[in-house]
Amino acid sequence: MILLTLVVAAAALWWSSSRPRMHPVVLVPGYASNELDARLTELYRRPGCGAHKGKKSGWFRLFLNYTALHDDPDGVRCFADQMSTAYDAASDDYHNVPGVETRVPFFGSTRGFRHPDPDRRNFSYMDKLLERLEAAGYRDGETMFGAPYDFRYAVAPAGHPSRTGTAFFTSLNSLVERESQLNGDRPAIIVTHSYGGTLAHQFLIRQPLAWRRRFVRHFIPVAAPWGRLVLGMQALISGNNLALPFVDPGALRKEYRSLQSSLWPLPSAKVFGAGQQLVSTRRRNYSASDVVDLLVDIGFGEGVEPYESRVLPLFKELPDCPRVPVTCIVGVGVATPERMVYPGDDFEATPDVVVVDGDGLVNLASLVAVEPEWRRRGPYFRMVKVANVNHTDILVNDRALGIVMREIR
Ligand SMILES: *[C@@H]1O[C@H](CO)[C@@H](O)[C@H](O)[C@H]1NC(C)=O
Ligand SMILES: *[C@@H]1O[C@H](CO)[C@@H](O)[C@H](O)[C@H]1NC(C)=O
Ligand SMILES: *[C@@H]1O[C@H](CO)[C@@H](O)[C@H](O)[C@H]1NC(C)=O
Ligand SMILES: *[C@@H]1O[C@H](CO)[C@@H](O)[C@H](O)[C@H]1NC(C)=O
Repeated sequence: MILLTLVVAAAALWWSSSRPRMHPVVLVPGYASNELDARLTELYRRPGCGAHKGKKSGWFRLFLNYTALHDDPDGVRCFADQMSTAYDAASDDYHNVPGVETRVPFFGSTRGFRHPDPDRRNFSYMDKLLERLEAAGYRDGETMFGAPYDFRYAVAPAGHPSRTGTAFFTSLNSLVERESQLNGDRPAIIVTHSYGGTLAHQFLIRQPLAWRRRFVRHFIPVAAPWGRLVLGMQALISGNNLALPFVDPGALRKEYRSLQSSLWPLPSAKVFGAGQQLVSTRRRNYSASDVVDLLVDIGFGEGVEPYESRVLPLFKELPDCPRVPVTCIVGVGVATPERMVYPGDDFEATPDVVVVDGDGLVNLASLVAVEPEWRRRGPYFRMVKVANVNHTDILVNDRALGIVMREIR
């Protein structure tokens, strides 16, 4: 009996000491990359779109359901309606449209963004990176965690409510603390892609410095658009088909304009100078300083108030140094739109596109915008450029993944 106890104790000791002493990893995915569920209530009124209404457990996958968008003739129209939000000036916040309830499934896990549509596994998002992490010994829910979020909402500056964004930050704070605790109080490595980096950066600078130093070992934003992007203007002008090639961007334009997060990618005047023409029509040129005029001229005047009060104050200056160790990993060497020249004054026309260096989506100037300041003020800063890899391929390309894995140590 005593012998058995000793053997068990020795085995337990061996087990605990042989377990790798890993720093937990938390992954924050990019824009429109994780699942989003919806449920329709009796208040939902859109003709022809109520298929899921009134069912007892009526949750369905709103994003991403490839089949619903691809095969159902009403699919895109209903998706556009149910994904929309509305800015309410009285409460100074964004809300779902009446009759649509939404939730983000699998918070804490990486499951919701491995394949945004789990029924179409050949259409993957972070699958390859997660496979690499698993091969290195990371386990979902033990040492590897996911922070999916409702990408239609964002967060607002101090003094402005953002119910959904604030709830996400509260959950993310608890998640990081809990995963650190689960892993012998070791601080976490926060790995993000694209927009997830902008959001995680907002999260970090809103935590006390002592919290960041206690809980964050390394912040690794991949392809983060620190100065945002010229294509952010284009998406508001023409719509955004969420990279689904069979969806007409114009069919999602109204929906896209209704989201607070759609105002986030508008280019920064600090990075794209006031003298640099980014959008041109016969009548006038627009620089990053002319965003408000552009919003009005494309027929989206209702975007001006939330842009000026809820978005611009966050991004007027370059992003603050988070004062934790940072490694930015960016793709470069890919032609990236920097100027759209419309042949006349019609924004419905197809513009000529002038390209510069970047990752195909985000301009190089934006990808590297924080480098001088963060290098000077942070405890550790590295900028790793991966040649000839685009914005999405950076999560798939073997060479790029090798670099990402080398930084997650
Ligand atoms: C996806 O959409 C199809 C077609 O509308 C529907 O039958 C299916 O239930 C949806 N899947 C989920 C998981 O909601
Ligand atoms: C993915 O799988 C579907 C069938 O489920 C097929 O129709 C489609 O062509 C595949 N796409 C790719 C890119 O392999
Ligand atoms: C727009 O800017 C270009 C130079 O980049 C200039 O040649 C052109 O005249 C300007 N157009 C207008 C309408 O001001
Ligand atoms: C990114 O690069 C990959 C590999 O070269 C390519 O297959 C893909 O189409 C590119 N994506 C975009 C959006 O350009």
